[in-house]
Amino acid sequence: PLITSTQMFKDAKKGKYAIGAFNVNNMEIIQGIVEAAKEEQSPLILQVSAGARKYASPVYLKKLVEAAVEDSGLDIVLHLDHGEDFEICKACIDDGFTSVMIDGSKYPFEENIALTKKVVEYAHSKGVVVEAELGRLAGIEDAVNVSEKEATFTDPDQAVEFVERTGVDSLAIAIGTSHGAYKFKGEPRLDFERLEKITNLLPNTPLVLHGASTVLPEFVKACNEYGGEIPGAQGVPEDMIRQAAKLGVCKVNIDTDLRLAMTAAVRKFLVENPSVFDPRKYLGPAREAIKGMVQHKIKNVLGSSNKL
Ligand code: G3H
Ligand code: 13P
Ligand code: NA
Ligand code: ZN
Repeated sequence: PLITSTQMFKDAKKGKYAIGAFNVNNMEIIQGIVEAAKEEQSPLILQVSAGARKYASPVYLKKLVEAAVEDSGLDIVLHLDHGEDFEICKACIDDGFTSVMIDGSKYPFEENIALTKKVVEYAHSKGVVVEAELGRLAGIEDAVNVSEKEATFTDPDQAVEFVERTGVDSLAIAIGTSHGAYKFKGEPRLDFERLEKITNLLPNTPLVLHGASTVLPEFVKACNEYGGEIPGAQGVPEDMIRQAAKLGVCKVNIDTDLRLAMTAAVRKFLVENPSVFDPRKYLGPAREAIKGMVQHKIKNVLGSSNKL
């Protein structure tokens, strides 16, 4: 069935590995991810953004994920990614999601607490778990000096107060990652000291790393070789993800790497087979590319193979 992340986070924290939370938008993406998790016997979180709900329509994604559960026999967490207000969280909870994120990170501390608390109260009354976010993810231009860093990165003492006062189940933190394919201008750098402090102060709170794609050069290269234009893309090195998992990060959010893998496969196929116009012929390889990417993450980066 659809399950919450409570037990899987406990196990991950103890075992110092992380669970991949993969963004889903259509059937092929869901199938590729679930096939990989099944082969690896890995716990799995599928997450749906507001944009994904709008693209596919809520009922389609819900039914596709239910089909994946039925077909694979796996227990899967169905999570709302970056819920921006109480209403979307409530809609997903009422829809049968087992986990929601309320992202109040753009609000002042007290407003973030009040909003998060309201979602936690409703979610917990329905047996659903909640992720919140404190601190803001750096954009490529952000956090260039110490005072800006202090203003955007998660403050460890505030994190303790936030968790205590909201009763939230997991916490997304800002330590230098950002969304998308352009995460760093120069050398990639994350604030592991800060992460360690937060983990020591909140030993029982599963931490979440957003913006955790690696932007693997071979996939950027493949996109560019077959007509794409994505220059200067750079993500979080795999070693840093492994390090974060050792330091208390239990959930690693990945979307960009799936997009790159899928796009590289479609571009390559269409360039190499100009006369083919059956969508199954290019969406099949796209699904395989998603599966390969997810299997690589689970096995070689997150360490969640054989943890069911
Ligand atoms: O955090 C953002 C995720 O990559 C989802 O992106 O809002 O375009 O679906 P999206
Ligand atoms: P990436 O853009 O690094 O894949 O991050 C995805 C994410 O954080 C979704 O919430
Ligand atoms: Na999320
Ligand atoms: Zn995110």
